[in-house]
Amino acid sequence: MQPSLTLGAESLELRWPDGTAGTFPFIWLRDTDPAGFHPQTGERAFDLTSVPLDIAPQAAEVEGDALLLTWPDQEAPSRFDLNWIKANRPGRPRPDPADVAPVAWRGDLGGAGVPHRDADAILTDDAALTDWLDVTKRYGLSIVDGLADDPEAGMAVARRVGHLRETNFGLTFEVVSKPDPNNLAYTSDALPLHTDLTNQELPPGYQFLHCIANGAQGGGSTFCDGVAVAEDLRAHDRQAFEVLSAVTVPFRFHDAETDIRSRKTVITLDTRGDVSEICFNAHLADILDLEPDQMTAFYRAYRRFMEMTRDPAYRIALRLSAGQMVVFDNRRVLHGREAFDPSTGYRHLRGCYVDRGEWDSRLRVLRRAAE
Ligand code: OGA
Ligand code: ZN
Repeated sequence: MQPSLTLGAESLELRWPDGTAGTFPFIWLRDTDPAGFHPQTGERAFDLTSVPLDIAPQAAEVEGDALLLTWPDQEAPSRFDLNWIKANRPGRPRPDPADVAPVAWRGDLGGAGVPHRDADAILTDDAALTDWLDVTKRYGLSIVDGLADDPEAGMAVARRVGHLRETNFGLTFEVVSKPDPNNLAYTSDALPLHTDLTNQELPPGYQFLHCIANGAQGGGSTFCDGVAVAEDLRAHDRQAFEVLSAVTVPFRFHDAETDIRSRKTVITLDTRGDVSEICFNAHLADILDLEPDQMTAFYRAYRRFMEMTRDPAYRIALRLSAGQMVVFDNRRVLHGREAFDPSTGYRHLRGCYVDRGEWDSRLRVLRRAAE
């Protein structure tokens, strides 16, 4: 069905028989001309400064399945496919196959409610990989079962997604009780719920913890959905929500080789106002340097958030077995562990990270192939 076309001073309007209407500024049409994109790379090759800002077409018409525009600066008219231009009309976010809406979860999910998927299927079947990427992004958390008894098995699954994110702890890290630890995780102490590496300019996205052995007494895992905590604060303690979205906490990790620092708000919102990120790590928080008159309000909000993460209303507990791997969005879901007693058995998790951008890219490419 062809749309009707109306020319304005700075834009044209297309109105389709189904009621859909779009306003297309001339400068946008000139900049978006399909001929202005590199035929192989698909990247924009057009130079915006080569035309005046107030450029207008000399002729505009709908012909067949295309909108044709003749411009003063080029001979051949621009040809826009009508279905394409309808789907990409300005003012609408461009459709994104990786746009998976988060499902906020609370304590009633229980350890048993965490989605499980099979390692072999993820490794060998693209549909299973797509499904696992989707469900893990939705919940921010999943468990992969049936990993080979091989220290590389977790990384093999992570590499199905994309490049590993290397950090000052290496490409992978061994979570074991070590004699001279540089990190609380490398002790047998309890780890309160936290997100990793909040001291980094960009904290790593997805975290993979492959359980190689969990034979010691204690050492159970805990998780909490930071989005659920933040959304409930927004609904019931608006002041705390606002403080945690505005005040930046200084974070710092330092050892013999490094001194890595960054400031982060506990809660980050995206351009839609949705909670897009949680940074919460009490053991990496540096000396708080807020103005004295901000301290009480900050501590009240921060303590409230901390209490909520530990409340059974939000927290879930489970125990990883050898051959399982927990995978979670480290910029959303907080993780922790109970203390364990190394004299009663061996506990070893092997970890690595893959950033969110890699995750989303894999999802888009898989969905492109499935179209
Ligand atoms: C970590 C961590 C959890 C565990 O290594 O960052 O939180 O279960 N480990 O040991
Ligand atoms: Zn951690």
